[in-house]
Amino acid sequence: MKAGGWRELWLDEIDSTQAYLHRHPQPPGTVVVARHQTAGRGRRGQPWESGAGKNLTFSAVLSVMGEWRDRSLIGLAAGLAVAELIEALGYAPCLKWPNDVLIGCRKVAGILVEVSGGRALVGIGLNLNQREFAAGLGATSLALEDGRHWSPAEVLEWLMPRLLARTGELDRDDILTGVRCRCCLRGRRVSLCCSGQRWTGVVEGIGPDGALRVEVDGGVRCFAQADEVRLVQDD
Ligand code: BTN
Repeated sequence: MKAGGWRELWLDEIDSTQAYLHRHPQPPGTVVVARHQTAGRGRRGQPWESGAGKNLTFSAVLSVMGEWRDRSLIGLAAGLAVAELIEALGYAPCLKWPNDVLIGCRKVAGILVEVSGGRALVGIGLNLNQREFAAGLGATSLALEDGRHWSPAEVLEWLMPRLLARTGELDRDDILTGVRCRCCLRGRRVSLCCSGQRWTGVVEGIGPDGALRVEVDGGVRCFAQADEVRLVQDD
């Protein structure tokens, strides 16, 4: 058990740390880390590709109470924790709602939250040392940004206290303030798909419940969740 209150289970190779935890439920505070995932899972059923031994890929089991049963709030808190860590390492990340962490306009980390039975499985993929990504993925890594090499074990050690603090915090206003000031969508024209319908509008901000507020045809629509949010180029 680490001093900060979590225990790590390192696996050399596994299909997905999320899938592992579904198959082998673990108590809150357990963190399953994979050196290599052969079938990493992303949001919306997308794959999450990560070069063997190059990046940080893990899932943390958290106990969640009350409003934190809300998957989207946990996701916002986790995204904020990752962004804050990356800032502390000297980078300038931003957050693309709901919880993609970007540097410039490239994705450096992704978060998948699944809630069941009062527990949240928070899966995080943070690109550290990978220098080549499939074309069209729009991905980056910390090493690609400035050449520095990072140890996955060390980065996890620094990230976990932040993740536990942010997701254990019940002050949703503090979380929303942190997310809002790093949000790269505010004032931008976006296109998003929700319940099979596509919407285009300008992002007004993030509401008190964590939903994305978008001005569409003269009114404001709130999206508690959406399929991928795409930036639309202004003419
Ligand atoms: C996203 O689509 O942005 C979410 C990506 C989440 C990837 C991480 S890697 C560790 C954990 N295990 C998985 O299979 N997925 C998550």
